[in-house]
Amino acid sequence: MYTFIQKFHSGWAYLVLILLVVAVVNSVMGMSSKREFTAKDRKIALFGLIVTHVQLLVGLILYFVSPIGSAVLGQMKDASLRLTSLEHPLINIIAVVLITVGWSKHKKIADNTAKFKSIAVLYGIGLVLILSRIPWSLWF
Ligand code: HEM
Repeated sequence: MYTFIQKFHSGWAYLVLILLVVAVVNSVMGMSSKREFTAKDRKIALFGLIVTHVQLLVGLILYFVSPIGSAVLGQMKDASLRLTSLEHPLINIIAVVLITVGWSKHKKIADNTAKFKSIAVLYGIGLVLILSRIPWSLWF
């Protein structure tokens, strides 16, 4: 059970990063060219949102089954354990909230460029936060 969830979270992370980069780049381009926000742009942002939410759910389960998840809370002096048991989960939950806000805001706005901006900025900050707390030494 642990190995399956850990492998899934590890592999799914590629999809999350790729789709978030695509959504951010697409929105930055849409914003700067001031073009219309189409159904395709909506789909790109929606896929980014869905894969991120799936990763959040899998991450939450992993947190409780992993020996280096919640089990090591309390050993905060060890930087690598602090990363997986505290910083990675906490910062990523904040990142997913920001991405979700970016998605919700774009729906309420009528202006095309402002829609792109909402996704570009909030998905962009979310992506940077996720990248800042990836346990790279575990992943590669
Ligand atoms: C949403 C974006 C997230 C991304 C892109 C992501 C990505 C990753 C990656 C690449 C690893 C290293 C996997 C490996 O060992 O090969 C990892 C480990 C881990 N993640 Fe996440 N994660 C995310 C969210 C979360 C959340 C929200 C939680 C918990 C609430 C979480 C809990 C964990 C834990 C406990 C580990 C260490 C697992 C182990 O090796 O035993 N992750 N994550």
